[in-house]
Amino acid sequence: MAESKKPKISLKRIERIIAGYRSQKWALIPLVQEIQEQVGHIPPEVIPRIAGALGLFPSQVQGVITFYAQLYTEPRGRNIVRVCRGTACHVRGGKSILKLTKQYLDIDEGETTPDMEYTLETVACIGVCALAPNIMINKETYGNMNPKKVARLFGRREKE
Ligand code: FES
Repeated sequence: MAESKKPKISLKRIERIIAGYRSQKWALIPLVQEIQEQVGHIPPEVIPRIAGALGLFPSQVQGVITFYAQLYTEPRGRNIVRVCRGTACHVRGGKSILKLTKQYLDIDEGETTPDMEYTLETVACIGVCALAPNIMINKETYGNMNPKKVARLFGRREKE
């Protein structure tokens, strides 16, 4: 099994961010956003500290983090791969593009490779349906995907 290279969390850095928002109940969202920007995610172990500093219950903090899909409690990969599962992509083979991508990366949707290189997600529509089926890697879109193109994007991982 590949060794996990999860980044080390700097609790001191997070404490400094939290200190800047102390006693400001309204500031929960900007605070968790800043932690995520600086650290890459919101480690679950800092939720009680955030709650304590803002005068909230940990369950309230957890509830907000769970509500917003763009807030993450797990570290994410350096590259975010989004396979489109919208209708246009689906009818043009998007399902097999997703299956192949999962096979090459050896992870499921919502997971990150142990080397922290890729996180795999699906999206409802990337917005370029004419080029279906589509994949996005970070901000780059790859259209008219087929098995050869998926192999070109991710196949090299198999040889590593
Ligand atoms: S359905 Fe895939 S880009 Fe719109």
